[in-house]
Amino acid sequence: MNAYTSDKQFSRLLYTSALDIECCGEKPAETVRRIAEGAAEQNRLSDLTGSLLFVNGVFIQILEGPQDEVEKAFERICCDFRHVDVRLIDLINVSERLFEGWNMAFLSDDEMSSLALGDELQEIQFLAGVNASQATLQMRSLLDNHSAASKA
Ligand SMILES: Cc1cc2nc3c(=O)[nH]c(=O)nc-3n(C[C@H](O)[C@H](O)[C@H](O)COP(=O)(O)O)c2cc1C
Repeated sequence: MNAYTSDKQFSRLLYTSALDIECCGEKPAETVRRIAEGAAEQNRLSDLTGSLLFVNGVFIQILEGPQDEVEKAFERICCDFRHVDVRLIDLINVSERLFEGWNMAFLSDDEMSSLALGDELQEIQFLAGVNASQATLQMRSLLDNHSAASKA
């Protein structure tokens, strides 16, 4: 590296949004699962990694990768009618990925999840509103503790 190159070659973006319940009929959990699967598939093609949480009807998502790919994906995501109230919380340049190996890890507070997981997800939801970097780190450590969010 020299004065003309930067070690910040990735972007990391954090946003929140709310599931549009109008769009998913009586099966919101199925819609959410489909969104997560589609995201992981698409991200594999776009060299993106990150994490998607769904708690209390709210999505909290981190996207990281090459800046242009992060921006393109976020533009697509903003246009998606399956969620509303998209709020960009944080967009920074970083030198390395925090979610290496997860094209889109997914955890939600559905009926299958434990009380402990529900509590952790709620804490991250709170943190996302007040301290983005802390919320990001907590999302990362949550994944280490939950094998359900297997690397895809
Ligand atoms: C909550 C949520 C998260 C999403 N996450 C991603 C994602 O990480 N990557 C991605 O490419 N698309 C994601 N999508 C899907 C995009 O909105 C879009 O449907 C998809 O990229 C296909 O876009 P296209 O139809 O313009 O090709 C997400 C959608 C929602 C509602």
